[in-house]
Amino acid sequence: MDRRADIIGWHHTRFGRLDKESVESLITASARGALESAGVEAGDVDEIVVGHYNGGLSPLSFTSSLALETDDALRFKPATRVENACATGSAAVLQGLRAIASGDARTVLVIGVEKMTEAGAPAVGRALLGADYDRAGSESPVGFAEIFAEIAAAYFERWGDRSESLAAIAAKNHRHGVDNPYAQLRKEVGFDFCNTVSERNPLVAAPLRRTDCSPVSDGAAALVLTAPGATGSADVAVRSMSQRNDYLPVSRRDLTAFDAGRAAWTAALERAGIGVWDLDLLEVHDCFTIAELIEYEMLGLCDPGMGHTVVEQGLAHKDGKLPINPSGGLKSKGHPIGATGVSQHVLAAMQLAGSAGGMQVPGAERAGVFNMGGTAVANYATILERLA
Ligand code: COA
Repeated sequence: MDRRADIIGWHHTRFGRLDKESVESLITASARGALESAGVEAGDVDEIVVGHYNGGLSPLSFTSSLALETDDALRFKPATRVENACATGSAAVLQGLRAIASGDARTVLVIGVEKMTEAGAPAVGRALLGADYDRAGSESPVGFAEIFAEIAAAYFERWGDRSESLAAIAAKNHRHGVDNPYAQLRKEVGFDFCNTVSERNPLVAAPLRRTDCSPVSDGAAALVLTAPGATGSADVAVRSMSQRNDYLPVSRRDLTAFDAGRAAWTAALERAGIGVWDLDLLEVHDCFTIAELIEYEMLGLCDPGMGHTVVEQGLAHKDGKLPINPSGGLKSKGHPIGATGVSQHVLAAMQLAGSAGGMQVPGAERAGVFNMGGTAVANYATILERLA
């Protein structure tokens, strides 16, 4: 089996509004937890990678060395902060894999973190819009929702109004999130609530309602990577991971298809030597429900324009043929930007190790992760596999 690295331990903080936590406390808690779960002494870590978007969310932006506060034995270890918009966490994972592939490191500590809720809605909107070519520097309390609303409008114009499909995706992911002890929104709200504009579910940016959006979150996740077979006791392997970027200006791309996401996904499957139906579950980037709908098509689950059939047929539900976001996804778990990609890998690893609790997809052997920054600008796809 082509195997890039093993994942030997992980930690996931709760996501949500965590008033008592700071970027530093989130980093150290997740790092400590991951090292403990891996059974690795801090002194044995060769490299640290910290995924932290920031963009003005927190005053301190030079955060790589905060990881050293976890344990004095981490002093003098190389630590680097990486950033690639909402795919920052996966950029950190890939940086860790590259450190192992280069031979520079045998054990890498990867941390993803974000503290968003302290900043207030206008500052959050401004920070997130820093990832958009046309709107960078502008003010908006709803930030990226405006951009994905444009994507939804373009999709509806091309393929018909799919508001009901978006509500079905929201209801599915809210339902899945109930079983996720780390999730921010652990409440089943049902299709009718998601499909109806109301005082409790207002339009954020038409046609997207509040339930079509991921929330604003604080949180962190961390994992420990080792060279393949280094410990002999790993449960989970990374078989492949691919990154593909697209042009930043949306005017240069088809808004209704995530072409670079598809390129990343196809490359990850090819490198792993499998097809999408060989997977047992997927954790994908549902920052807004329209993103998950388009991703059904991008992942090769159906033809373009037919994404609605995936959710209508129950295929993506936890008891369906290919559960998608059994964790509740960004939609219900929360989306602390720099933590998200690491969180997706941790939750997939938990599934493969059989330790996902109420989220567990029975007998899961292979999982896919798809994480994107911006509107499918920086795209990362990973195939993970359970080791016998
Ligand atoms: N989905 C469902 N419920 C949500 C929610 C969401 N995304 N965000 C907040 N809520 C709930 C809260 O839990 C709260 O419920 P309660 O009254 O039962 O406690 C209620 O809605 C009001 O919360 P509040 O924080 O005041 O909502 P808001 O209207 O200020 O913010 C959004 C809602 C959707 C505008 C905000 O979450 C947002 O901007 N999300 C997008 C973040 C983003 O762009 N991320 C980057 C993606 S690329």
